[in-house]
Amino acid sequence: MCPPSRAFYPVVVITQAVGAKQEVLWRLAGPRRTGIVMSEPFRPYEKLVDIIIFGKKFQVPERNSLLRCFQFISPETVPYGRFCWNQDCQYCRVSCQLPDEDEPHEMLSCKFIVMPGMEITEMSQELKWCLRAKLPADAPVST
Ligand code: FES
Repeated sequence: MCPPSRAFYPVVVITQAVGAKQEVLWRLAGPRRTGIVMSEPFRPYEKLVDIIIFGKKFQVPERNSLLRCFQFISPETVPYGRFCWNQDCQYCRVSCQLPDEDEPHEMLSCKFIVMPGMEITEMSQELKWCLRAKLPADAPVST
């Protein structure tokens, strides 16, 4: 008897924290395909771009969400933050000024793809807590 077509097997996404980074494991459920296909948390990138957080410059991977860039800056804390990563929890909210704008506005960092030269002027308590060791000493961090 032939096994059913692979197209009928559901794709299962498992997210787990391993060591200092978060890994996304893609598995194809079924008897023949149960191996790990992907484990890199970042989207492919060729270069780092500059962003500014509370006046301090950071280099982060292009083509990634801003929250993923925060994970790049602080891989030991951001994967363990209370983030849903899918626009539900609002814990990733930041105020940010883009290079081509005159005023900052709020955005969800899990949704917004990083833009070179963007400047973050305010962020949620959860983000401040996760990035506290990387932010400037005079950044407004609450506990
Ligand atoms: S991480 Fe939950 S809304 Fe962005």
